[in-house]
Amino acid sequence: MQEIIAQLDRKRAEARLGGGQRRMDAQHAKGKLTARERLDVLLDEGSFEEWDMFVEHRCSDYGMGEQKVPSDGVVTGHGTINGRLVFVFSQDFTVFGGSLSEAHAEKICKVMDQALRVGAPVIGLNDSGGARIQEGVASLGGYAEVFQRNVLASGVVPQISMIMGPCAGGAVYSPAMTDFIFMVKDSANMFVTGPDVVKTVTHETVTAEDLGGATTHSTKSGVADLAFENDIEALLELRRFFDFLPASNREDPPYRPSADPAKRDDYSLDNLVPPDPAKPYNMKELIEKVVDDRDFFELQPNYAGNIIIGLARMEGRTVGIVANQPMVLAGCLDIASSIKAARFVRFCDCFNIPIVTFVDVPGFLPGTSQEYNGIIKHGAKLLFAFAEATVPKVTVITRKAYGGAYVVMSSKHIRGDVNFAWPTAEIAVMGSKGAVEIIFRADIGDPEKIAARTAEYQNRFANPFVAASRGYLDDVIMPHGTRRRIAKALRILRSKQLENPWKKHDNLPL
Ligand code: HXC
Repeated sequence: MQEIIAQLDRKRAEARLGGGQRRMDAQHAKGKLTARERLDVLLDEGSFEEWDMFVEHRCSDYGMGEQKVPSDGVVTGHGTINGRLVFVFSQDFTVFGGSLSEAHAEKICKVMDQALRVGAPVIGLNDSGGARIQEGVASLGGYAEVFQRNVLASGVVPQISMIMGPCAGGAVYSPAMTDFIFMVKDSANMFVTGPDVVKTVTHETVTAEDLGGATTHSTKSGVADLAFENDIEALLELRRFFDFLPASNREDPPYRPSADPAKRDDYSLDNLVPPDPAKPYNMKELIEKVVDDRDFFELQPNYAGNIIIGLARMEGRTVGIVANQPMVLAGCLDIASSIKAARFVRFCDCFNIPIVTFVDVPGFLPGTSQEYNGIIKHGAKLLFAFAEATVPKVTVITRKAYGGAYVVMSSKHIRGDVNFAWPTAEIAVMGSKGAVEIIFRADIGDPEKIAARTAEYQNRFANPFVAASRGYLDDVIMPHGTRRRIAKALRILRSKQLENPWKKHDNLPL
């Protein structure tokens, strides 16, 4: 018996060594943790239960028969984050560069299948040289099996990808189909074709970091939701993020009691909107002053800054925040911001997270670049997402709500449940100047007349009361009471029931 136990211990120790001390040292020298060290940081102490530690690949080509490493380049299993169950896989770069073999893929599929059955999120820590080159097509088949599961799990359990090393070629499509992608600066990169292929095909010279590093994807492409400085920061922030998420689409978001009173008024908000309507102000100030404990987990902060998205809590319960940002492009909706917010709204709706929308939008961004690149269909994504969402929707218009953008931003007409406006709100087809130049075109040569007409139009429409008189707003509220009113609205909406007509799935404009 002693010998059998010793054998088990030996086998476990061998598996824990991964690709060996030399390769672990190399990993550390690059400023990266190993696959198992990462799970130690991510999961509650002692909660990780490893599965398939003794799995090995089945390849015999290119001398692979003699090179078997238990676990085969990926550590899989389950654990908890602040007591809540999560399934995980963590690719081990020290074993064949974390490359994906058929067996490696089977291990990932096993945890995904189980997560789906029990209703728990899946977190993948990616650090891989891609398809195991010695295995060829068996590896491609393995990727396909993972992709299929990403699709089936989408909208059923949250899926999060943390890219902590290379992730190239078709391998990028598994993270791409998960709900969130986070990346670590300097060590992570993602691209469909690497710098060498780019050089050959397009003659562009670009580094891996510039082509697909964390900064590129969190500022230029919008592929990544956040970029972190190092492994530790990334994993600790992932723990914080996880606390906002429900375990599955069958559950409500977790409840975390807060000492922040729901009735807390904030009189500084009464001066947030400047007297000059052309002047910007920082919408993040409003968000932070409204949510519990100023705790706002913003996503994509450095991409399409004209819209703000992220998770927060009201009275301890997770809410999704969508807000125009007057400080960037005057808060206009454009292609990038529409896509950014649409995917987030759909995420919230999948997972029963109520949506709070703050509106200050002068309209859609004009220009040939926007039109040629399809603002029509991309803008429609956000409209579609808000209109199909059945979760509680609370909207506050702080200032401008013009034209189509007014309708898009969770208006009453697309099933906003509770719609408020501040007294500073201006809800109209367009701004006064533009409106007057169209309906009083004959007077354009007479600046005095135009000024008088503009003032008249401004008085008539640049307020919330025309919309309120039609019931498009439920109330006009004082800015200082915004937290109190939103909290109350969300409280009454907890028992909301609304279903869309049966369909196989919708046909979102893509
Ligand atoms: C097998 C691999 C491997 C792979 C790396 N290794 N990638 N083994 N299959 N894909 C091994 C190396 O042989 C080496 O083994 C160890 O991992 C570390 O690799 P290095 O090259 O020394 O590391 P580094 O210099 O940090 O470079 C990392 C790298 C590079 C950028 C990832 O290894 C690389 O370019 N690898 C090939 C990437 C690739 O072309 N993959 C296929 C993409 S196509 P030793 O024994 O020396 O430690 C694809 C299709 C997916 O993935 C399709 C899905 C549908």
